[in-house]
This record gives sequence, C-alpha cells and structure tokens, in this order.
Amino acid sequence: MMHDACYMMLNTYHVPVLLEEIIQLLAPKPGDNAIDCTLGGGGHSLALLKRISPKGKLLAIDADPAAIQEASLRLAGEGVLGQAILVNDNFVNINEIVNKTSFKPVQVILLDLGLSSYQLDTAKRGFSFWGEEPLNMQFSGGGGGTTAWEVVNNYPKQKLKEILAVNADIGKPGDIAHRIVRSRGEQSIKTTSMLVEAILGAPLSEGSGADQFSRNLPPLQRKLLTKVFQAIRIEVNRELQNLRQVLPQLLEILSVNGRLAVISYHSGEDRIVKHFFRAAAKSCICPKESPICRCTNQAKIRILTKKAIKPQVKEISANSRARSAILRVIEKLS
Ligand SMILES: C[S@@+](CC[C@H](N)C(=O)[O-])C[C@H]1O[C@@H](n2cnc3c(N)ncnc32)[C@H](O)[C@@H]1O
Repeated sequence: MMHDACYMMLNTYHVPVLLEEIIQLLAPKPGDNAIDCTLGGGGHSLALLKRISPKGKLLAIDADPAAIQEASLRLAGEGVLGQAILVNDNFVNINEIVNKTSFKPVQVILLDLGLSSYQLDTAKRGFSFWGEEPLNMQFSGGGGGTTAWEVVNNYPKQKLKEILAVNADIGKPGDIAHRIVRSRGEQSIKTTSMLVEAILGAPLSEGSGADQFSRNLPPLQRKLLTKVFQAIRIEVNRELQNLRQVLPQLLEILSVNGRLAVISYHSGEDRIVKHFFRAAAKSCICPKESPICRCTNQAKIRILTKKAIKPQVKEISANSRARSAILRVIEKLS
C-alpha cells in the first residue's frame, strides 16, 4: 500500500479548477494581498502568489492538516513560502484569523468549495464509495464534531430524508432514508461498503467495488451513490451553514475595489452564492409596490460574472472533476 507522503510526491494532490478564469477575473496585481480560504494542494494559491510577488502576501486557510503540509512543501519548492501565512482552521473563523494575523488590506479573495482529489482518493476518511473505508468524512480528519458514522447511524429518519433532499436534490429521499434506517436496525453501518450495500441493497459487484479504477457501475447507481455520499459529507462539514456565514465576513474584509471569487460544485451551494451576490449588488431595496425609490441604499458590489462561468470542454476532458464547477466573481464598490 502506498504511504500518503509518497502519494503526494508521485501524484497530483489536486488539479486547480478554472485557474485561467480565476486569474483573469480576480486580476491580482503585484503588491496585492490575497486570501485563499481553501488552500487544498496550493494550486490556486501558487498562481496568486506569482502575480502578487514580490511585495504582496497570501493568507491561506484549510481545515485539513494534510493540505497545509502539502501546500507548504509546494510553496517552499517554488521559493514563495516566505510570502505566505498558512493557517489550519475552518474558514468560518476568517474574521478572527484576519485579526490575529493583522492581515490587511485585502484586494483578492478566493473560495474554492468542496473537497480535494487527495481527500476523495487517498485520505481514507470515507469520502468515496469505492473501496472499504471508515465513515468519517470530516475535512479536518478528526478532532471532534459530527462524523459520517453518526449521521448514518444516529440521525432520525426524517432528518436523513431532509439532508438527502436539501444537500443533493435526491429525487426519492424517503426511500433512501428508509433503506439506511432498515439496514442500521440489523447492524451498525461502519464502513463505506456497508453504506453502499444499505443504499443499493447489494454490495458493489466484482470489478467495481474490488477495483476502484475499473468503475463499471451502472450510471444511475453511480449517480445515486455520488449524491448520497455528497449529502452526508455536506452535513458532516456544515458546508452550507459555513458558506452562509463566511460570505458576509469576506465582503467586510475585502477592500474597496477588491475582488472575491467563489467556485461551487453543486446547485445548493451556487444558489447561496448567487442570492447573496444579487442582494449585495442591489442599489434599491424599496418595497416592490413603491412607485419611486425612496431608500438611500447603495450597491455594495458589482457582479463581474453576469452568467456563472463553467469550465470549457477542454478543461473537463483533462480533469473530469472540473465538470460541476460554477464560478461567480464580484468587485466591492463601497
Ligand atoms: C476544492 S479543494 C481546494 C483546492 C485548491 N483550490 C487547490 O488549488 O488545490 C477544497 C479545500 O477546502 C478545504 N475546505 C473545505 N471547507 C473548508 C472550511 N470550511 N474551512 C477550511 N477549509 C475548508 C478542504 O479541506 C479542501 O482542502
């Protein structure tokens, strides 16, 4: 079995998504300060650092200590680690982190949501339904908080149904919740393969479960498993709550004329970002019935991506994990 450190050296920890578009729209300049709220393997961070060098600084955050370790090696190898402050924390604590590190002013902020390829393929925390892993699914990899095991084995059926519907738009969430509850009534669901069996009513066949790279699972089953695992992961990491809490903080932290980019990977996340940006971009907040504007409200931001940006076919063929990415970028006005 390959050791994690070897994996990081031999393979790509994570391929940054929409990199060209991010750089073009965030337009980082020499001397700017940037915050990368989701460091991962440091691909986006490195590209930002190259543009803001030599005077600009980067504050980069990740909940996963493995990301901090990987990215610090990578940035050191590129000779830019000295310009970066790497913090192992949840980005929901961004105000505190910025205050503690006196990191101001901030001209550029990036939020690249979800999980890294390393977490999905290698971290052995139960993010993937291929193989046999314990049900953890925490980005931080441990140290308290809800685990996937607790969600699967302890949540009431109704709550399970809700998270399946809200976090992954699953068509018949009641059916899946019922199957999970029935299965855990027989024995505790401890591993990813036990969860797969509870959902499908049968284990993955030879050649799918046994060898994660053969991946010959019928598309509908594959889609269902992807969605159920996604829904549980989002619940475990409070991803939607964290996103709602961090967006207003980021807008406060950003300097006037500064830019914020958010990459989401599913409709639930993107809806939150889109609505937040639309509300902040409104100049008039008078009631609809009011014939003329009487409010003194001013738009806080300008939306730079009238239509959300999605990866081009070329990028998706090179990196299939980019396929669900949705990018929105704004500029702060006041
Ligand atoms: C899609 S990856 C980022 C990849 C990165 N942009 C790159 O170029 O490699 C998302 C990362 O965000 C981290 N993450 C997700 N939610 C977080 C949160 N609330 N606080 C801190 N880190 C978080 C995950 O641990 C993961 O490493």
